[in-house]
Amino acid sequence: MSLYSMIAPKGENGFGYGSTAEDVTEGLDLHGKTILVTGCNSGLGFETVRVLRLRGAHVIGTARTKAKADEAGASQGSLAGGFTGIACELSDPRSVRACVTDLQTRGTSLDALVANAGIMALPKLETAHGYELQFFTNHVGHFLLVTGLLDRLAPKGRVVMLSSEAHRRAPQGGIQFDNLDGSKSYDPWTAYGQSKIANLLFAKTLAKKLAGSGKTANALHPGVIKTNLGRNMGSIAGLALGLASPLVLKSIPEGAATQCFVAVSPKAEGITGKYFSHCQVIAPRREGEDDALADRLWQRTEEIVAALPR
Ligand SMILES: NC(=O)c1ccc[n+]([C@@H]2O[C@H](COP(=O)([O-])OP(=O)(O)OC[C@H]3O[C@@H](n4cnc5c(N)ncnc54)[C@H](OP(=O)(O)O)[C@@H]3O)[C@@H](O)[C@H]2O)c1
Repeated sequence: MSLYSMIAPKGENGFGYGSTAEDVTEGLDLHGKTILVTGCNSGLGFETVRVLRLRGAHVIGTARTKAKADEAGASQGSLAGGFTGIACELSDPRSVRACVTDLQTRGTSLDALVANAGIMALPKLETAHGYELQFFTNHVGHFLLVTGLLDRLAPKGRVVMLSSEAHRRAPQGGIQFDNLDGSKSYDPWTAYGQSKIANLLFAKTLAKKLAGSGKTANALHPGVIKTNLGRNMGSIAGLALGLASPLVLKSIPEGAATQCFVAVSPKAEGITGKYFSHCQVIAPRREGEDDALADRLWQRTEEIVAALPR
């Protein structure tokens, strides 16, 4: 807990900057619920899995390999809720499709799907299947996973997309449709911002598609937290983050709060198509509210996915 966490105000729902994942789920009995969390082996995903299991949910945790997922689940020891580890390498469409097929075959019904995994600010342009790697991993990989599992969503199932306040650093217009491979220009933070506004726009269109079904889709910013996500930041930025941590950054338990809140809290029931930060609904950057842009991105991503190897 940082100094700021101790004094930060709470919102009307009683939660805020300093709330932890345990705080926002306190008193909830999640026995009988099944929740999928991507990126279960590290940082916010690991803590989200731990707390949802603590409250009794059965968690399906995905990681790049099944061994990584299983190891993460086992390292949490015995908790009220069970754990199933599945491989889902988001930059490999075959791995994502295999994960979808596995869950379809098991007939798993999902009460929530937390699209948590992500990479940030790759120093040099990297690509997968012809697309910039952050856009592909954070957005396209999750698009393939979530759309493949939509029919597995329980009647009040919730889709939770990890975006970031860094979505405000997306390029002019939000998405550079003519530069999705990064060949015209590449900046690590602009590309990360583009991938995160894509997560936000995806939730927005999905919410529209789910309207009236009782199922919801939202996006969120977890806060700024020192995790492995910063592995590509230079040593000076890493040092600055380390120094800022006790003053203003969130701890990992605080960082996992908003996604747990949006995924399971009765206080978030029925809310859809929104962007959360510190467990409160806030306004994203203007393009994050742009329906036409969101629809265009959805269509383009459908085309991208249709052309990927099977
Ligand atoms: N930390 C922050 O300050 C912050 C701020 C805003 C938003 N976020 C968002 O929060 C989410 C969680 O981040 P974190 O801070 O917990 O980071 P983290 O500790 O680095 O965890 C990221 C997770 O994503 C997984 N992942 C990365 N690439 C993958 C791929 N190609 N296929 C499958 N899994 C992959 C990682 O697996 P490996 O360990 O195997 O790489 C890891 O499990 C991210 O979406 C991030 O954008 C974080």
